[in-house]
Amino acid sequence: MMSRDINVGLIGFGTIGSGTVKLIQDNEGLIRNRLGAGLVIKKIADLDIETPRGVSVEKGVLTTDVNEILNDPEIDIVVELMGGYEPAKSFILKAMRNKKHVVTANKALLAVHGNEIFGVAGEENVNMGFEASVGGTIPIIKTLKESLVANNIKSIFGILNGTANYILTKMTDEKKAFDAVLKEAQEIGFAEADPTYDIEGIDTAHKLAIILSLSYGKSVRLDDIYREGITSVSPQDIEFAGELGYKIKLLAIAARREDSIEARIHPTMIPFDHILSSVNGNFNAIHIDGDAAESVFLHGQGAGMMPTASAVVSDLVDIARDIAKGIWGRVPLRSYMDDEIDDITLLPMDDVLANYYFRVSVVDSPGVLSRISGILGKHNISISSVIQKGRKLDGAVPIVMTTHKSRERDVQTALREINKLDVVCEDMMLIRIVDEKLT
Ligand code: HSE
Repeated sequence: MMSRDINVGLIGFGTIGSGTVKLIQDNEGLIRNRLGAGLVIKKIADLDIETPRGVSVEKGVLTTDVNEILNDPEIDIVVELMGGYEPAKSFILKAMRNKKHVVTANKALLAVHGNEIFGVAGEENVNMGFEASVGGTIPIIKTLKESLVANNIKSIFGILNGTANYILTKMTDEKKAFDAVLKEAQEIGFAEADPTYDIEGIDTAHKLAIILSLSYGKSVRLDDIYREGITSVSPQDIEFAGELGYKIKLLAIAARREDSIEARIHPTMIPFDHILSSVNGNFNAIHIDGDAAESVFLHGQGAGMMPTASAVVSDLVDIARDIAKGIWGRVPLRSYMDDEIDDITLLPMDDVLANYYFRVSVVDSPGVLSRISGILGKHNISISSVIQKGRKLDGAVPIVMTTHKSRERDVQTALREINKLDVVCEDMMLIRIVDEKLT
């Protein structure tokens, strides 16, 4: 049985906005067959309504006045694809107050103002879709909220930023330095002119914050998530990682520990034989370990016009299906009932246990290794392997060590002590390792 068509207002006619319009046009018949109604783009608001977007829309659909969407009683769902905090947040809240359902890809906004926005959605009995906010086309939000609803999530390991993954892949494949690869990536449009969010792990942190709320029913402060970007990863470390059997990836890690949740983002060595190490270029991927489901792996395009539009339209269809049935709130917006969601203090980084890779550049003379291993031993850090290469560079040689499970606080204390030794030529490099089971 066919229902009435669903009217959509789109705010932001950029790459994803045009992709959303194109997908709804290209697959109109398919969507109608699956939804039992049509999705109609009734209005599109953008400051620039002149530049061609490669999709044709009827005259009168485009407007520079967002209120033509927010105040239109016939619009059922507002899609916010402008990004940023303001005015995106005010537009979303106004849409909700006007009883419109909302779809957004705005991870930064949800990561920082999620509690307020989800709260207003609850007060106004409107639905909210945000599949495109994490991992582009990858259905991670639906997987966590619905498919894995019966699981305790033991851990999540994600490659959630395509730009950072592209840069690390190029550095690995072409043995090039970070700066050179970043410059090339900017020239071909694979990295932003200001790449800070991508290379410093901020974009990844936004996505991890959303994942944490869905996985554990916890609302985290963004600043509480430990974060290191990829700027200090060198071709030398990538080469040593390869000799030790690892790839280096910018990983988002969330894990349930005894009484707390661990969340961190940093360059991480992953064993060659783990599926995440084969995720290359600008792809994203997420590995989830559920207590019943066990290992689940999702892989796909984390950005881009049509892949991200696929996630946006999936949310539109979900909400439209509920509108057709006259229901709301079948699936809680953050997977948990609202009154079950609370704030959380994450496990302090100092208390995290991990395996470590160290590279230290030292004067090549007797007793140096024993002084370094003495400091590590004093701080309960057990060495699992040592490589000393005879590659002398400016009178120094690199020593590379890996450790058994050690506590971050001990490692940082030892590192400070080692860096003070007169035989150490440059500060020690540290990269955390995950073992073959990703724990
Ligand atoms: N800038 C992101 C990336 C895509 O490089 O993966 C949008 O989150």
